[in-house]
Parts: sequence; structure tokens; C-alpha cells
Amino acid sequence: MTGKLKGRTALVPGGASGIGRAIANLFASEGAKVAIIDLGTALPDKVRAELEAIGADFHYAACDVTDPEGVATALDEITTALGAPTILVNAAGIDEVAPLEDVSLALWNRMLAVHLTGTFLVTQAVLPAMRAARWGRIINLASQLGHRGAPGMVPYCAAKAGIFGFTKALAHETAEAGITVNCLAPGPIDTPLVASLPPEVVDAVVAQLPMKRLGRVEEVAGSALLLASEEGGFYTGVSLNMNGGHYMI
Ligand SMILES: NC(=O)c1ccc[n+]([C@@H]2O[C@H](COP(=O)([O-])OP(=O)(O)OC[C@H]3O[C@@H](n4cnc5c(N)ncnc54)[C@H](O)[C@@H]3O)[C@@H](O)[C@H]2O)c1
Repeated sequence: MTGKLKGRTALVPGGASGIGRAIANLFASEGAKVAIIDLGTALPDKVRAELEAIGADFHYAACDVTDPEGVATALDEITTALGAPTILVNAAGIDEVAPLEDVSLALWNRMLAVHLTGTFLVTQAVLPAMRAARWGRIINLASQLGHRGAPGMVPYCAAKAGIFGFTKALAHETAEAGITVNCLAPGPIDTPLVASLPPEVVDAVVAQLPMKRLGRVEEVAGSALLLASEEGGFYTGVSLNMNGGHYMI
């Protein structure tokens, strides 16, 4: 690896699994100190072992991103352990399939809370240090489904569409401070989140894909690295769409 993120501290909410896990690993391989926030009381052994094998300087803080006090406490802990993060990848997420008539208010609220409120709370918490550093990289996990929609996924698609607006508005606010704000909008990626969907739903999606396969987490992490690196410094307010040709824009 080339040490592209040497000297940086990166925070990855949702980094205990799937896309966030791959990003945390790649960023650590590129020399970043890596902080992970997730729901479990501890980082799963496998995830910890991967980071240790890289020789990463990392810290785990258990935290629900929808809890403002929890986020503040986690960030204090992380800052003490690794220094203030100036790279943030908002990768926490949930999914559930149901036709709109069957969507409970609790499910609707949770979907918006995890994706939108969580992104808002963690981003707001890290911004002062980025402003002080006059350098920052914020990368939000949206989804192609925020553009194209999908049946049975109204709350998820509404939340992900919100991430595009959040990203673009904040990109305007922070550009002069040297802070870029961008989205990743993956198509279906082979992660536990997709594995939790009914197999017939996943099969139907793969059949529609020009590439006829799920994406790999490494194929998302590479784009995250571009956005986090010096070379990615002129991207802001954009969405990188790694989706196997599912949605061409
Ligand atoms: N997998 C895909 O096909 C795909 C496609 C497009 C976008 N995305 C998005 O990418 C992100 C990562 O998804 P993934 O597929 O890696 O899922 P995943 O389930 O493998 O990982 C998500 C992680 O987020 C954590 N999390 C969930 N709720 C949380 C909360 N309230 N507070 C803290 N952590 C929380 C989970 O515990 C989990 O570790 C999500 O935002 C998802 O919507 C995924």
C-alpha cells in the first residue's frame, strides 16, 4: 500500500460489518488511524483480527448513531485515543423490505433515524475539528436506490434520497473550509445487509443487473479511498455510482 492516508484519523460508523468494515481495513492499510462506531459491545473478533493483522492503530466505541449523547461520548473517547477524526465515512445502515401499506411508523422512523439522523449527528460532531484543521473528508453511504427507487423499500429509498440532499447542501457550507462532502451510491453489494433480504428479492435484482453479479465490498472501498485521499480533493457534492450498470446516469 502507498500510505495515502498516513497521519489521518478516520471514523467509520458501521465499520464492524460489510462496506464499512472493508473501508476501515483499506484506510488502515493506507496508514490511517481508524475509529469504528457500531452497535455491539465489542468489535467482532474477526474484524479486530483483520485490523491487528494490518498493524492498524484503531479504536472501537460502542454507540447507536441515533443517540446524540452516545455519539458525543464516543467522539470524546475516540479523540482521546486517536486524535480528532478528519475523515468520516457514514456507513451505518439497516434495511427491511415491506410494501408501504405494511410499513409501521416505528420502521419508518428507525429507517430515517439510522440513515439520516445518524449521519447528521456524527457529521455535526466531527465538523468543528475538521474546520479547525481546515481539512476534512466526509463520505456518506447513499445508495443507487435513492435515485431509482425499488418496490418494498420506500423508507430505505426515501432515507437514501435524503442523503443526496444532505451531502450537496453541506458540500456548499464547507467547501471554503477545505472540507469535501461526497456520497457513495452503490448498487447491490455482497454484505450481511443484502444477505438479510429475501433470496428471491436478491436473485431478481441480480437478474436485472448488466453485470449479473453482486458488487464486492472492495469495489466500494476503493472509491471511498479516492474521495478520502489528496487526489480526491476536487470532488465535492458528488455521488460515485458503483452499481454494475444497474442505474446509468
Ligand atoms: N450492501 C448493499 O448492497 C448496499 C448498497 C447501497 C448502499 N448500502 C449502504 O451501505 C451502508 C453499509 O451497508 P452494508 O451492506 O455494509 O451493511 P451491514 O449490515 O453489513 O453493515 C452495517 C453496519 O451498520 C451498523 N449499524 C446499524 N445500525 C446502526 C446504528 N443505529 N448505530 C451504529 N451502527 C449501526 C450495523 O451493526 C452494521 O455493522 C448502509 O448505509 C447501506 O444502506 C449498502
